Amino acid sequence: MTAPARGDEPWYGAGRDLAPAVPIVEINRASRVYRMGEVEVPALVEADLRVEEGEFVAVVGPSGSGKSTLMNLIGCLDRPTSGEVRLGGTSVADLDDDGLARVRSRFVGFIFQAYNLLPRTTALENVAAPLLYQGIGRGERLARARATLERLGLGDRVGHQPSELSGGQQQRVAVARALVTDPPLILADEPTGNLDSHSGAEVMALLRELHRSGRTIVLITHDADVATTATRQVHIRDGRLVA
Ligand SMILES: Nc1ncnc2c1ncn2[C@@H]1O[C@H](COP(=O)(O)OP(=O)(O)OP(=O)(O)O)[C@@H](O)[C@H]1O
Ligand SMILES: [Mg+2]
Repeated sequence: MTAPARGDEPWYGAGRDLAPAVPIVEINRASRVYRMGEVEVPALVEADLRVEEGEFVAVVGPSGSGKSTLMNLIGCLDRPTSGEVRLGGTSVADLDDDGLARVRSRFVGFIFQAYNLLPRTTALENVAAPLLYQGIGRGERLARARATLERLGLGDRVGHQPSELSGGQQQRVAVARALVTDPPLILADEPTGNLDSHSGAEVMALLRELHRSGRTIVLITHDADVATTATRQVHIRDGRLVA
């Protein structure tokens, strides 16, 4: 680390080490209103949230409180009706759909409650799929997918289709798919919601391990027990984030 050399520069100007860290996720007064014909549903209301790199944050709230709406904004699957979403310091407002897809594919690994694996497609091909968007050749895609599945203890299931795997195994395939691109941010929306307690505990142990290895995790859950795994909890109720 080097000290600032001259007084006429900003105090952080002499070296990146001294710069204030940019939050990996920053949401400023973001709202999302769904329009259903004449009716407007305010699913998220002026949400402010900052997540620093390396944090493990749980967003906790009851069903219908706006958790998935928030996750979709953080993950660039959706845009706010008003307000701002910044990832790694960059506002995503000006990106077109392709731009959003690119940010998503490089920045975020998603884990969903219902696994969302491609049916009739092997675990290996499911995990390799996100690499396609990064223009990586087939040989390397499959090699990286296999290595990731092996790391998650699924080396002997690479040729299985989702219907040939248990729920816990399917979720581990989904975790492998989220990790294969090596994204800095993992977004997990009720990842244990469909699992028995043993498989759920396994998935939570995986998330803890990912956090220990330096990844930033945002976990969405209605389950107060599951939320205790995180190092910080943010509560959401009727579309509003509450401390
Ligand atoms: N596409 C949509 N169109 C209209 N309303 C929607 C849409 N998606 C969500 N909503 C409404 O927005 C509110 C928040 O929904 P959201 O899915 O974010 O809740 P949630 O906290 O994830 O709930 P759950 O725990 O049941 O998954 C709910 O009232 C829901 O009915
Ligand atoms: Mg939800």
